[in-house]
Amino acid sequence: MLAKWIFLMCLIVCIAEAHELNSIKLFNVENYGAISDGKIDNNVAFMSAWNEACNWNGNASVVIPNGSYMLNPIIFKGPCKGWTTFEIQGVLKAPITHSFSDISWINFRYIDQLNLTGTGTGILDGQGPWVWGHKHVLMTMSFDFVTNSYVQQLHSINSQNAHFSVYSCENMVFTNLTITAPHNSPNTDGIKLGMCKGININNVHIGTGDDCIAIISGTSKVNISNVYCGPGHGISVGSVGNEGDESIEEIYVKNCTFNGTSNGLRIKTWAAPLEQPIKASNFVYEDIVVIDVENPIIIDQHYCPSGNCIHQVPSRVQISNIHYKNIQGSCKGDVAVSFKCSETFPCQNIITEDIYLWSNHCTQEGPSYSCENVNGVSYGEQCPPPCI
Ligand SMILES: *[C@@H]1O[C@H](CO)[C@@H](O)[C@H](O)[C@H]1NC(C)=O
Ligand SMILES: *[C@@H]1O[C@H](CO)[C@@H](O)[C@H](O)[C@H]1NC(C)=O
Ligand SMILES: *[C@@H]1O[C@H](CO)[C@@H](O)[C@H](O)[C@H]1NC(C)=O
Ligand SMILES: *[C@@H]1O[C@H](CO)[C@@H](O)[C@H](O)[C@H]1NC(C)=O
Ligand SMILES: *[C@@H]1O[C@H](CO)[C@@H](O)[C@H](O)[C@H]1NC(C)=O
Ligand SMILES: *[C@@H]1O[C@H](CO)[C@@H](O)[C@H](O)[C@H]1NC(C)=O
Ligand SMILES: *[C@@H]1O[C@H](CO)[C@@H](O)[C@H](O)[C@H]1NC(C)=O
Repeated sequence: MLAKWIFLMCLIVCIAEAHELNSIKLFNVENYGAISDGKIDNNVAFMSAWNEACNWNGNASVVIPNGSYMLNPIIFKGPCKGWTTFEIQGVLKAPITHSFSDISWINFRYIDQLNLTGTGTGILDGQGPWVWGHKHVLMTMSFDFVTNSYVQQLHSINSQNAHFSVYSCENMVFTNLTITAPHNSPNTDGIKLGMCKGININNVHIGTGDDCIAIISGTSKVNISNVYCGPGHGISVGSVGNEGDESIEEIYVKNCTFNGTSNGLRIKTWAAPLEQPIKASNFVYEDIVVIDVENPIIIDQHYCPSGNCIHQVPSRVQISNIHYKNIQGSCKGDVAVSFKCSETFPCQNIITEDIYLWSNHCTQEGPSYSCENVNGVSYGEQCPPPCI
């Protein structure tokens, strides 16, 4: 009798568990009082839905349905118990006034296994046009200490500052995103990575007013592929080289297009003192198309944009093992390839292979190739003629 009872109990538990397997518990913000009139602040409702989803014993999903939701600066904090999906089907609207201490609009932090998706319809509207040029503006979405996570199928428009900022994150995938802001919108970087490791960015369409992708201090193992950039300032490594900065290593950029951007592939380091030299090394840029790009390939170790660097000294960032392979297209400026390296730490092992860049101005003289303190080799098809 007892054995039969135990067997029955077991069966019920097993069926219940099988049912739970791969199920996702949904937490719809509307059930927590969210109102999609685009005006009323929804922070309390979103926070309640997040807290329940995050503490759910299993996989959970916060669902933001169709509609327009106004949301003030908010922090979604982990750790959570299972995979936490954050599904934005509707439009989220940023505030145009906020407390001066807020630097980001939607912040995710200390989360492992976050699955952020816009399901192809979700939009983050930064409402930038109301505040561009103002002092205290918000990054649209930021991730701090987030690991093993996805960000996908989402559209960010008119961010006030950077669209996506990723800091101290590990093993994240950014895919199927659209990032849009006007070419003259200030500081609207597309995706900005700092102190990160193991980031994959693919199938992203970026048109913005600043860097499409910016890779800053302490970042390594980044794969970028199938990215379209334009308008924008290109894919930039740096600026690095100020005191406290850390090396940037293993960056792989493949099959990307730059259209009408000011830069294509740029590495910039500060002309500043640095107690311990750091590295920017082991980068590969492969299968890149440029259309009407001002500076398709540029290394600038004398970076000092406003011209008022306090101690202008040769950069102490050692740039090495940079391979440019199959870079083609039209160049809008006079210099197609520009290597301005440090006098004290010349660039080492710079390889240019199959570089074909022409001017669209149809002048007799095409764009040029310029070298300063650079060691390396070039082979394959080369236009303009290389100086390494
Ligand atoms: C949670 O989601 C992950 C990833 O999709 C899946 O592998 C796992 O089986 C799910 N767990 C449960 C309890 O449903
Ligand atoms: C959500 O909105 C989109 C665009 O407005 C519409 O195409 C879609 O049918 C809506 N979905 C639902 C479930 O209402
Ligand atoms: C993430 O969300 C998408 C869309 O809802 C879903 O297809 C995918 O299975 C989810 N992934 C995980 C790991 O939960
Ligand atoms: C990207 O999004 C499109 C449209 O929403 C979808 O058809 C496609 O499967 C997605 N690709 C990936 C890799 O998620
Ligand atoms: C980058 O690509 C390489 C080669 O395809 C692969 O081995 C590595 O795991 C990828 N890294 C990331 C972070 O996606
Ligand atoms: C390269 O990127 C373009 C879009 O930028 C895409 O259409 C094409 O499929 C990609 N090629 C490969 C081999 O992934
Ligand atoms: C490049 O940008 C111009 C201007 O926006 C556009 O007309 C053209 O179709 C784009 N070319 C490609 C290949 O995307």
